[in-house]
Amino acid sequence: MASEPEADMDFQSMPKIEIHAHLSGSISRQCLHEIWSKKKAAGSTDLEDPLVVMPVDKHDYDLNTFFPLFSSYIYHLVDDVDSLTYTTKSVVADFAADGVVYLELRTTPRAMATAGLDKAGYVEAVLDAMAAAQAEHPSIRAKLILSMDRRNTPEEAREVVLLARQFRARGVVGVDLCGDPAKGDVALFTPAVREAKAAAGGGLGVTIHFAEAECSASEAELQTIMDWDPDRLGHVIHVPEHIKRRITAARPSGGGGGSSSRGLELCLSCNVHAKMIVGSFEAHHFGEWWRVEGVTVVPCTDDVGVFGSPVSNEWRLIQRHFKLTRAEILELVRKGIDVIFGGEEEKQRLRRLMW
Ligand code: IMP
Ligand code: ZN
Repeated sequence: MASEPEADMDFQSMPKIEIHAHLSGSISRQCLHEIWSKKKAAGSTDLEDPLVVMPVDKHDYDLNTFFPLFSSYIYHLVDDVDSLTYTTKSVVADFAADGVVYLELRTTPRAMATAGLDKAGYVEAVLDAMAAAQAEHPSIRAKLILSMDRRNTPEEAREVVLLARQFRARGVVGVDLCGDPAKGDVALFTPAVREAKAAAGGGLGVTIHFAEAECSASEAELQTIMDWDPDRLGHVIHVPEHIKRRITAARPSGGGGGSSSRGLELCLSCNVHAKMIVGSFEAHHFGEWWRVEGVTVVPCTDDVGVFGSPVSNEWRLIQRHFKLTRAEILELVRKGIDVIFGGEEEKQRLRRLMW
């Protein structure tokens, strides 16, 4: 007898974790508009209204149109401490309202010359805003990952790792490698990643954007990254079979996240809207990976401000397109706890919270 489809779950109320969310890409258009309106009224911006630049229903940014959104627009609008604070608080509040109880935001430290802020000042301002947001929304705990950009020099990448170490006590839990997959040579980041893993008092968590586009999925690049033994991988799209075997192989070290299972941060809506995969949701490699042993799949939004699908909706899409039962969904949500970078105490809190 064919089983009945299960009733829709209340994915917004379901406690969830989000561990792959870029700060500047997670700012809602409404929030950007509020910043812009204030600056416009004060005569301090010549930029166009974000609601014109990024119309509310437009989510089909691809790899060619996506990255310039930041370099040509968002970074010019969010260029001072007040707007950085306002947007960061708004991002944390949005995740809390969507039922996220544990968040790892990530951001690329960026000096704001006109505001007299160096990269350390930027990280500090983001952490201050995250702390303020958590005080206002006690249901969520938020940690920070610092991103190295593929265009960084080796020195800039090491500076990111130094900042991550410097701000560890304030809630920085890991480092990431992100940015335009068409740019850069990942081999240059080997020393920085080594330093992150060797950080005193236990390594920082290491997560890497992996095989996101064909141009960033050469044999040399994938092997170099796997040699780093990253704790988590983001996207994981263009992966040949022998690399899949490396991804699922047992990890003797346990890694910075303290998990022997490697985390896979899969971003369904982002990959579909940006046409990073062939086909739509049913064709997404979530279907291939979610039950595989040796990895822990965590659905993530990547850039909810751009692609418009909150985490609750990612779970809704998963239920709809991959027909997971209620029990399978709850088990998968809970399993994600294993690969957070926030430490044992936080894992215990989440396990108590999640059934
Ligand atoms: P920020 O680091 O907080 O400024 O967030 C925006 C930055 O995140 C962008 O400039 C990109 O470098 C990076 N980013 C966001 N989404 C992606 C992605 O899907 N792949 C690679 N990098 C990304
Ligand atoms: Zn990403």
